[in-house]
Amino acid sequence: MPMLTIMPSGKTLQAETGARLLDAILTSGADIAHKCDAKAECGSCHVFVHDGRKSLSKIQRTENDKLDTLVGVSSKSRLACQAIIGAENITVELLDFI
Ligand code: FES
Repeated sequence: MPMLTIMPSGKTLQAETGARLLDAILTSGADIAHKCDAKAECGSCHVFVHDGRKSLSKIQRTENDKLDTLVGVSSKSRLACQAIIGAENITVELLDFI
């Protein structure tokens, strides 16, 4: 099982391959907004993925279109509600842009 590390707290937990990144973060008890109920409409679940990006599901058009509207997006940006966890360990940084 991949390990998920959540910054800035540094909290780690085991994540399930095939689970939504948002759900894994919420399971950890971390506070992450998800205002549109995971429909890629609000952008409030925007995170930076520092490690393990390539093992996450590929960015689909709806996610890409939403990311294009957000401030502070980088090549590490993902919407946690759209990213599915793969087999590799992941480090994400929770943001406070919204
Ligand atoms: S919860 Fe709204 S975009 Fe992810």
